[in-house]
Amino acid sequence: GITRKMSFGINSKFNGIESKTPFLIGVSGGTASGKSTVCKRIMEKLGQVDMDHQQRRVVCISQDSFYRNLTPTEKLKAEKGQYNFDHPDAFDDDLILQTLQDILAGVKCEIPAYDYRTNSLMKDQVTTIYPADVVLFEGILVFYFPKIRDLFHMKLFVDTDSDTRLARRVPRDIKERGRDLDYVLNQYMNFVKPAFEEFCLPTKKFADVIIPRGADNTVAIDLIVHHIWDILRLKKAENSTGQHPFFYQHRRT
Ligand code: ADP
Ligand code: C5P
Ligand code: MG
Repeated sequence: GITRKMSFGINSKFNGIESKTPFLIGVSGGTASGKSTVCKRIMEKLGQVDMDHQQRRVVCISQDSFYRNLTPTEKLKAEKGQYNFDHPDAFDDDLILQTLQDILAGVKCEIPAYDYRTNSLMKDQVTTIYPADVVLFEGILVFYFPKIRDLFHMKLFVDTDSDTRLARRVPRDIKERGRDLDYVLNQYMNFVKPAFEEFCLPTKKFADVIIPRGADNTVAIDLIVHHIWDILRLKKAENSTGQHPFFYQHRRT
């Protein structure tokens, strides 16, 4: 409603760049390409991990937090590996848009954690996202929805071979997501692989930077970290002088 209209107004008026508007980075790529790991490395290198939430200048949000709540029937399907978590319809794209618009407007917001073991959002485990200078938003379909895609100031695509991704997804899902081998392989063949080819891979063309080999690519990660440092320095200068540095006024068209 009103909040959405307001944040939209701020964005268009200042062309997406205004002193309290964070620099928004989208990170996409297939499952187990290393999106979460790349974001974690970036946060670590920036010294932003063990930091008080209110002082943190860089925050990372995952698209997992925006999975739709399942109906009891869908929940049963999910338990049998018959629900498609890789289809765009599995996500609440309106809520993603609204949340990112709030973040861009410098409005504090709350997002839930996702529990892969129960295929549901943990409403009692919300994270408060305080206004930050740089926000990373990562997920398999963050460049799929045009209105969401248009909000990013920089788009990264983590590009890792399909066989490497499957080889990493199997042990991860068994160890961390409470699945067994049969479940993981069936889900992969029936839903994950076809949906990757239909919905995720075609969004690679929207990326500004493609990161081959994911977290192994320390050179690419260092380049991105340096770019974020530059942004943080400029934001700091901007905040103390109250003026928009030249660079910033010309960043985005
Ligand atoms: P995504 O978020 O894209 O699905 P993750 O970051 O969760 O991918 O990585 C998938 C799995 O592979 C995780 O278990 C992670 O620890 C592991 N992994 C990620 N990158 C590497 C790498 N470069 N070398 C070895 N294992 C990796
Ligand atoms: O971290 P990653 O990008 O792998 O997370 C997205 C993947 O999580 C999707 O490929 C989807 O199949 C999987 N998923 C799942 N069970 C859920 C929600 C998502 O297996 N309940
Ligand atoms: Mg992940």
